[in-house]
Amino acid sequence: MTEPQPRFVPDHLVDTPAALIDLAVARRNARNVAGYLSEHGLRWRPHVKTHKSLTLARLQLDEGAAGLTVATLREAEVMAPLETDLLLAHPPVGEARRQRLTRFLERWPLSVALDSVEALDTVRAAARAADRPVPTLVEIDVGMGRVGFPDVETAADFAHRVADGHETPFRGVVFYPGHIRSPSREQGDAMEAVGARVQEALEALAARGLVPQVVSGGSTPTLWRSHEIPGLTEVRAGTCIFHDRDTLAMGVCRFQDLAYRVLATVISTAIPGQVVVDAGSKALARENFRSGGEGFAFVAEHPEVIVRSVSEEHGILDLSATSWRPGVGERVSLIPNHVCVSVNLQDRYLYPEGERMRVVEIEARGRV
Ligand SMILES: Cc1ncc(COP(=O)(O)O)c(C=O)c1O
Repeated sequence: MTEPQPRFVPDHLVDTPAALIDLAVARRNARNVAGYLSEHGLRWRPHVKTHKSLTLARLQLDEGAAGLTVATLREAEVMAPLETDLLLAHPPVGEARRQRLTRFLERWPLSVALDSVEALDTVRAAARAADRPVPTLVEIDVGMGRVGFPDVETAADFAHRVADGHETPFRGVVFYPGHIRSPSREQGDAMEAVGARVQEALEALAARGLVPQVVSGGSTPTLWRSHEIPGLTEVRAGTCIFHDRDTLAMGVCRFQDLAYRVLATVISTAIPGQVVVDAGSKALARENFRSGGEGFAFVAEHPEVIVRSVSEEHGILDLSATSWRPGVGERVSLIPNHVCVSVNLQDRYLYPEGERMRVVEIEARGRV
């Protein structure tokens, strides 16, 4: 696949709110993650839901990622031409998904992570129709309580059923420790519990003669402790390409590792004690600050200032902790609580290159 020629926007014509990225910082983040994981004999299969962009996926693969994780078939379709090992970590269920998955499999290979007979039937039907086996991983719940079998014996029975059909060769185990969001240094007990659950699952599989080729886990909050999970082979951390207010608060990254910001303009100072910017919930999203505390973003140039509240196209900055008084027209950059949902609201990224802004497409946005 040939790389498209870059497009540029002159700096003075950048309208706000705009999503700014720093590709050099994103590359450094990718290099650090891939380096740490390879030191511990682990592979990185970043989740592309964070950036949804071919440019960023290429960058991750260049820096040593071994495959990619996707949540939607749209993401899979966009990433497929990169010809890397793709894992769909979201169960495809229903007739529309079956048809779309079949069309995908007619062209490209894909692995899936499942936790139900219904999803297994959908995948098998698509695999048969496309005449392409789908390596299948079984999802276990390690404490988040979202998807995955909470009981390892049931998971192992399901894995046995998966392995029983030639359309779905058993590839391994998937888990997501999304419930661990405490600061890195306080995660010891929780990581131990996850490791114990993974071990139980591996033993239950072994009792049925099943050896997983892949044990896929990981998240950005637990990233730097991934090596503490015995049996793990790969880590799907995705947020770590950009980071955000939450991962900064958790101590998973440093301020200089933040590679994504929403550029906004002050549009009103009429009410004393606050200013209003043109980035609200439709640019920053309205995600809670899960690390505890208020607000939806902070101002990168004045980290003591948070976006206290948002409506759709307005964000209200709380100036109570600062003597800084920006005027109407001044630009600020905002670090959202959760970068992935903010990215999903953007049409494209801008990346400053000299006097111009390079346009970086977000091709996998939306469901189409
Ligand atoms: C199944 C799955 N794997 C991996 C990830 C990536 O984790 P993080 O966003 O913490 O990097 C997510 C995030 O939501 C996920 O849902």
